[in-house]
Amino acid sequence: MLALVHLLAVLAPLAHAAVPSQLFSNIIPRKVLATYNALPSPIQYPQYTDSSAGKWLYFNPDTWTSGFFPTTLYALNTRKALCGATPANALNAANWLALGRAASNGLIPLETHNNQGHDVGFLSMPFVEELAINPANQTALTAVKQFAADLAARFNPVVGCTRSWDTSDPTDFTVIIDNMMNLEVLWVAYGLTGNATLREIALRHSDTTMKNHIRDDGSTWHVVEYNSTTGAVIRKRTAQGFSDSSTWSRGQAWGIYGFANMYKRSRDPKYLTTARRMANYFLDNMPSDGIVPWDFNAPLTPAPRPADSSAATIVTNGLLLLSLVDPANAQKWKNAALSILDKITQLSWRPEWQSLLSNGTVNKPANNFLTGIVYGDYYFIKAGNDLIKMGLATCS
Ligand SMILES: *[C@@H]1O[C@H](CO)[C@@H](O)[C@H](O)[C@H]1NC(C)=O
Ligand SMILES: *[C@@H]1O[C@H](CO)[C@@H](O)[C@H](O)[C@H]1NC(C)=O
Ligand SMILES: *[C@@H]1O[C@H](CO)[C@@H](O)[C@H](O)[C@H]1NC(C)=O
Ligand SMILES: *[C@@H]1O[C@H](CO)[C@@H](O)[C@H](O)[C@H]1NC(C)=O
Repeated sequence: MLALVHLLAVLAPLAHAAVPSQLFSNIIPRKVLATYNALPSPIQYPQYTDSSAGKWLYFNPDTWTSGFFPTTLYALNTRKALCGATPANALNAANWLALGRAASNGLIPLETHNNQGHDVGFLSMPFVEELAINPANQTALTAVKQFAADLAARFNPVVGCTRSWDTSDPTDFTVIIDNMMNLEVLWVAYGLTGNATLREIALRHSDTTMKNHIRDDGSTWHVVEYNSTTGAVIRKRTAQGFSDSSTWSRGQAWGIYGFANMYKRSRDPKYLTTARRMANYFLDNMPSDGIVPWDFNAPLTPAPRPADSSAATIVTNGLLLLSLVDPANAQKWKNAALSILDKITQLSWRPEWQSLLSNGTVNKPANNFLTGIVYGDYYFIKAGNDLIKMGLATCS
């Protein structure tokens, strides 16, 4: 009887956590192919859509988001490997690997010059995907090593972090929580070269961030400014959140994902503890409608308070990763991931838009919200792939 009660307690939350069928819709490959075919020449990359018709806006390659669309093409190649390509699932519509490779080429000039600061980690993503397929691809090897060297060159040992954004006063050393996601390129390059300095930088950056970006309740400041010569914290503030002391949900999501990844990479338990604390804050502060708000402290009125579908898909991936590295709590993280994904899909799936999802908040203080977002869509597709790999979803 006890065993049965226990079993029901384990199964009950699962019953509520449906996998949204949109995750495997043939609308996805169709839209991604249409976007590929509409890429401008010379190449520019989609970043977000307008808020009325859902049409992509294109940006020059020297933009922090340029790697996401090529990586999306690689993600559909992965999906084809997982699900097979048929007319019904529309994965037969293109050679996704060829398209991913072609779309990556526009990023190569950024290896030697770019203005993206710490975001070279995001720019490296399609090349990391390429190496998973062809570890001998010299173009991809060079790109990953070069982007890692760019990030490493931004490390300041007095501060103990890599610099996120450049500032007019170079002694004002700015680090944002998002930077946790860029550390992965250091790990990949460390794996390729054995250069332990790259790993050391990832560890130091994480330790400093753990100390200064994360509040006692597991929430985060978006921005911490350090003095580059003394290492002292000058101020803590927001850039894209509601207020300096609020918790911007996408930053919280990047942090959960980043610290779960640091634990996966290093197996140092302090990173697992940190990822758990941050994830608990996220889940404990979810509103009752289950929709990820753009900032946890943003006012509820005027209603509806804008959501951020990209924060929702990013945290979904972060929680799924956490479930893999934290077996003791795996069921809790999986259930939360599926619940957040289901709710955001019901709110923001938009067949008539060029993006997959609406309700993205690019930058609320700059009045840029109610859009599709390229990374929101990418992490939506990746969540589908990972759910299949984890045995939590089939391909339909
Ligand atoms: C190697 O990777 C680059 C960029 O990722 C791609 O453009 C190129 O086609 C790839 N080369 C081969 C031989 O697959
Ligand atoms: C290791 O990486 C660091 C940071 O990019 C670099 O300064 C150093 O020269 C590299 N060491 C070797 C042996 O290549
Ligand atoms: C950092 O500290 C140095 C030395 O005390 C000082 O000259 C500089 O103005 C400080 N920079 C900032 C941004 O506070
Ligand atoms: C979601 O997006 C739709 C269409 O843009 C909008 O009408 C709705 O208010 C948004 N909801 C939230 C919670 O942001």
